[in-house]
Amino acid sequence: MKGILLAGGKGTRLYPMTSIVSKQLQPIYNKPMVFYSLTTLMVAGCRDILVISSPDDIPRFESLLGDGERWGISLSYAVQDEPRGIADAFRVGAAFVGGDPSMLMLGDNLIYGRLDFLRAAVASHTDGATIFAYTVANPSEYGVVEFGPDGTVISLEEKPANPRSSWAVPGIYIYGPDVVDRARDLAPSARGELEITDLNRGYLAEGRLRAQPMGRGIAWLDTGTPEQLLNASNFVHAIEARQGLIIGSPEEVAFRSGYLDRAGLADAIAHLPSGPYRSYLERVVRD
Ligand code: G1P
Repeated sequence: MKGILLAGGKGTRLYPMTSIVSKQLQPIYNKPMVFYSLTTLMVAGCRDILVISSPDDIPRFESLLGDGERWGISLSYAVQDEPRGIADAFRVGAAFVGGDPSMLMLGDNLIYGRLDFLRAAVASHTDGATIFAYTVANPSEYGVVEFGPDGTVISLEEKPANPRSSWAVPGIYIYGPDVVDRARDLAPSARGELEITDLNRGYLAEGRLRAQPMGRGIAWLDTGTPEQLLNASNFVHAIEARQGLIIGSPEEVAFRSGYLDRAGLADAIAHLPSGPYRSYLERVVRD
């Protein structure tokens, strides 16, 4: 399963912070936002990941994340010269995806909790598209999925004024290899973007779209506005302070996912500056 991490968009709702650095490089509490989506892809089983961002920001992502070797994964980079919508990731990433299935995650989404369901969804994915569904109080700000009594998808709409359900679609999606051709055939929406919801509606029309509810024990947070950013920071802080664990550490996730052995983790830590992040990982190695 190839992974695509889309860190595009202009982040206008976070202006002026985004006038110097993209949204996905802003801090959520104690680490850059992109660490959370990157580690989610890693937990889901993706070890070969393409990061897509703007021409200005790609060099910053490269210097932050590198080639992934120190985390036992492979990271490559592609430029999206204009923010043309989420589905454009499959045009930009066509060569990277090749003939493989892929998982796309938006770099401004934060998913926290037991992620076994993601690994299972990746492992059982054979054809078509798998999306997820999460109950929110404000569904009209998202893609909204409506389920029939048997759990099949009846409708899927992008930011409907009158949502047919409370099930919003989080920014994490699984596709078969045909997604690249299908993204090429998409036409831009009224707002001029290649909509991920239009791509998914294509699968729905063919009866090849599955939507899997994420349980309420999962936290899915959005980070597009200053308030959401603050809430996400407070959330991460609350959990980390209580548990004494760190959320979204690529080193730890690589170790616990078996991408790095203990020596590999020790090696990754040796390059880190001293401080609480390094001390935490030294405890992980010891324990
Ligand atoms: C995008 C998608 C939407 C999805 C959301 C998840 O919205 O278009 O379907 O629910 O991401 O974060 P946007 O971030 O463009 O408002």
